[in-house]
Amino acid sequence: MATITEIADEVFRISTFIPERNLQINQFLVRDEEPLLWHTGQKFLFEGVREAVAKVLTPTSIRWIGFSHFEIDECGSLNDWFALSPNAQGFCSFVGARVNMNEYASRAVKGMKDDEVFATGKHHYRFRATPNLPHCWDAGLLFDDTSRTLFCSDLFHHMGDAEPITKSDIVGRARAHLEDMEKSPMSDYIPYTSKTENLLGGLADLHPGTLAVMHGSSYSGDCAKSLRDLGTVIREVVGAK
Ligand SMILES: [Fe+2]
Ligand SMILES: [Fe+2]
Repeated sequence: MATITEIADEVFRISTFIPERNLQINQFLVRDEEPLLWHTGQKFLFEGVREAVAKVLTPTSIRWIGFSHFEIDECGSLNDWFALSPNAQGFCSFVGARVNMNEYASRAVKGMKDDEVFATGKHHYRFRATPNLPHCWDAGLLFDDTSRTLFCSDLFHHMGDAEPITKSDIVGRARAHLEDMEKSPMSDYIPYTSKTENLLGGLADLHPGTLAVMHGSSYSGDCAKSLRDLGTVIREVVGAK
């Protein structure tokens, strides 16, 4: 069953814990004139996510559905949401729309340029293209300039049924998980490239107040430092191989 918690002003975290994988899969909902859903989760999560959304607003009123990159935990139930919500507009990076969505999606998906901005009423957003961060060529991230929330996708991934939001360090948790991944058949989860730390620095320069994390706790505190520190962690754990 999915739980829903407000983690920033009008920003809600929807979380489903998968015990057999010790993994949370989180989506984020922003309540506004035009409601926005960031990530859909897999198809098997669709009913639970829809029920969680219904606790805050009418699911058929979802107007924007965005995601970071083409993986099923990010966008697996996109077409189910399109079937449910007649006015929903999907969006992802330009690359994602061009390479994957033209065929995968049942409805045209908007390809966002780097630093493209848009508004949904009170909330103003910036889409940042982040190729190969956290992973995949088509990756991008979303910043809600109004609540100062950065939707991080797989960045800061950590395991367990973590609290909805914490002020404690999540960089240490992310390092522990990345180290475990590197020792597993799932290694190279987050690649270290010549652009990784610059991209993270660019996200830090947005000065987020909340990091909305897809797997694990969201964080409120010195987010700019956490983003730069995460760059160091990725370099030390992955880049040094
Ligand atoms: Fe991913
Ligand atoms: Fe993910």
